[in-house]
Amino acid sequence: MSAARLLVVDDDRNLLELARARLRGANYDVAVAVDAEEAIQATTTVNFDLSIVDLRLADQDGMTLMERLRAVNPGMPVIILTGHASIESAVEAMKRGAYTYLTKPFDPRELVLQIERALESRKLASENLRLKGLLKEKYDFANIVAKSDKMQKVLAAVSQIALADSTVYIHGESGTGKELIAKAIHLASLRKDKPLVAINCAAIPETLLESELFGHEKGAFTGAVRSTKGLFSQAHEGTLFLDEIGDMPLSIQVKLLRALEQRQFYPVGSDKPVQIDVRVIVATKRDLAGEVKRGTFREDLFYRIHVIPLILPPLKDRVEDIPHLVDYLLKKICRQVKKNVIGLTPKAMHKLMRYDWPGNVRELENTLEYAVTMTQRNLITDDLILQTKGPVAPNAAPQRQLLPMLNQVKSLKETRAEFEKAYLVRLLENCNGKASRAAEIAGKYRADFYDLLKKHDIRAADYKKAH
Ligand SMILES: Nc1ncnc2c1ncn2[C@@H]1O[C@H](COP(=O)(O)OP(=O)(O)OP(=O)(O)O)[C@@H](O)[C@H]1O
Ligand SMILES: [Mg+2]
Repeated sequence: MSAARLLVVDDDRNLLELARARLRGANYDVAVAVDAEEAIQATTTVNFDLSIVDLRLADQDGMTLMERLRAVNPGMPVIILTGHASIESAVEAMKRGAYTYLTKPFDPRELVLQIERALESRKLASENLRLKGLLKEKYDFANIVAKSDKMQKVLAAVSQIALADSTVYIHGESGTGKELIAKAIHLASLRKDKPLVAINCAAIPETLLESELFGHEKGAFTGAVRSTKGLFSQAHEGTLFLDEIGDMPLSIQVKLLRALEQRQFYPVGSDKPVQIDVRVIVATKRDLAGEVKRGTFREDLFYRIHVIPLILPPLKDRVEDIPHLVDYLLKKICRQVKKNVIGLTPKAMHKLMRYDWPGNVRELENTLEYAVTMTQRNLITDDLILQTKGPVAPNAAPQRQLLPMLNQVKSLKETRAEFEKAYLVRLLENCNGKASRAAEIAGKYRADFYDLLKKHDIRAADYKKAH
């Protein structure tokens, strides 16, 4: 840290020289002024961290000067020196905002002690201000809808942990906003002006993941024609978001653990360690504790990353968020597709409230996007929402596909089969490829449901969101 900058104002030049020598000896950056005008002049050009003002100056009383200085530099602590043991006016000065006073002749050690205390309290005050600003920002997380108590708690935790450098572990079902929250944490942190680098561990083959994370030297493996910086290096001084960490292969887990523990890593094919200064945020929709028990996730890594857990509740557990999300998402979608839809009919809203949203906010967003695209009016009616199967069915895509089919005049059987297939696809999309869930919604036994899938040559796993 750079030295604190102090201004000493006294009309006694000997005292000024003495104070300057002492304070420089204590590693402060010191400027002096013999009268009020000189002091004001100095304050307008330098942003002092603290000033020390004699209560009785030749051209002005110190109290007035103190007030003028603080008008120029609000929040700067002022220590008053008083030569005549006129404690009363010193006390008056404190009432008007002086940090403290010392009587002349003062003990230099006492002066340094008071300066340190004043600087510390100023630091705390500005930290407080910053925290207050952050708290306000919590409500300014403008792109996160969080009316429910559950989500309010999540956001409160986000503002609280943002400043720390500890690893954050975000757990939540698909589409609950894990990525959104990871971004919010980065933006509320002191690293916000540095990069946020994200990687989806599920989307990258094991053989590439290591060099993707840690980089590699030229010639480290076939195809490594030049050395490459890994994501850890790209995220230097910023945040690294490891999405779907549950999908990280065991071989890479060991390397990640070592990197996090030692705060350094070796690029593939290099024996020169690289130091790490990144904040790590991980996310998963899997039950990692369970994976640890099953041996598919390293226990030591789990504890290393499970420092601050944030659990995002599924949408069905916070239905009170739905109307607000609808409001927010409708506006967002209308902007994107340049349509003006003002809202939903009560019946349509009712349908949204009763559905249980296996795909959470993302599914809600998709449902609304479909409805906005399809509606001919500026209002969304319930027939455009989750159409096919009452309150717990996916939305109306099959109908959309039915229309051209009718023009082609197909047989009823053919039409029905196509409808059925489109319905199944849409349903699986909405259930994120979970066949058992889809069967339940379709009102079929699982075995029958699988038969249906087979008939249409559909693989449930293909509809698991890659994201
Ligand atoms: N509370 C919320 N307020 C506003 N939008 C939200 C909220 N939660 C999620 N969304 C939106 O829903 C979509 C899905 O969110 P996000 O991608 O963060 O979820 P995820 O948990 O990472 O999903 P997945 O597990 O499938 O990767 C995004 O478009 C996001 O902006
Ligand atoms: Mg995600």
